[in-house]
Amino acid sequence: MQILPFDNRDGVIWLNGKFVEWRHANVHVLNHGLHYASCVFEGLRIYNGKIFKLDEHTERLFKSAKILDLDIPYNYQEVVDISKQIILKQNISDGYLRPVVWRGSEMMAISAKKGSTNLAIAAWEWPSYFSPKKLLEGIKLNVSKWLRPSPESAPTDSKAAGLYMICSLSKHEAEKLGFDDALMLDYRGYVAEATGANIFFVKENELFTPLADCFLNGITRQTVIEIAQENNIKVHERHFELDFLKTCDEVFLTGTAVEITPVSSIKQFNFEERKLTKFLISEFKKKVTS
Ligand SMILES: Cc1ncc(COP(=O)(O)O)c(C=O)c1O
Repeated sequence: MQILPFDNRDGVIWLNGKFVEWRHANVHVLNHGLHYASCVFEGLRIYNGKIFKLDEHTERLFKSAKILDLDIPYNYQEVVDISKQIILKQNISDGYLRPVVWRGSEMMAISAKKGSTNLAIAAWEWPSYFSPKKLLEGIKLNVSKWLRPSPESAPTDSKAAGLYMICSLSKHEAEKLGFDDALMLDYRGYVAEATGANIFFVKENELFTPLADCFLNGITRQTVIEIAQENNIKVHERHFELDFLKTCDEVFLTGTAVEITPVSSIKQFNFEERKLTKFLISEFKKKVTS
């Protein structure tokens, strides 16, 4: 499938207070966000023209910015309103919304507190992250050599651009080896998450998911836990090691981009069962379109 480059599309992007022509939504190469990773972002899905969990994502954007010492020069309600306006302007029915916050170009040094904080919000049509065939078959995961850092080593509670460096490296390596994505362990060797999604395991009709103590407690992850609780399905949030996989029947990923995606294998471990995953996918579909 041919993907249009992201800097050469029609439409508008909201940038620092105005809607600007898509191809003109540019920043200077000497900006602090690019050089020193002073940048946070969000990813939201639009279903039938409505943004799913807009409040939760907007709250997380402000929280991430605060953790990185970035002062967004707009208030919460303004960001909510702009998000709604941009999907109307872009006429998006099923798509993706990407707010991004970064420190500007006033200072090119590690210390740059006096630099401006910038905000842009873009939206585009985006059906499914994986092809329908992949979703049916389930995706194949490698196990990355990169470990999710401890909360003492990185701001793991934020959706900070810098945290994605090891995610891209892990996913590139996985794809090079013929996998679709990678499972990442944390600094203690516990199972953590995939490169852009949380992970769940099914064992004897109960759900197991790693305790989100050094990676994002995803909004989709929380929605799946909510669905499970509404349906009397037991959820265990705890630490476990790679060995735990041997005993599992089903595995799936959750995230705004991947939604709920079945996993067919992690390295040599295969997971053919889909019963609970399919049930959760159908309940999730009801929630996002209600
Ligand atoms: C590293 C990582 N973990 C987990 C998630 C899932 O979070 P959410 O469900 O809020 O999209 C994402 C996606 O945003 C992510 O990039």
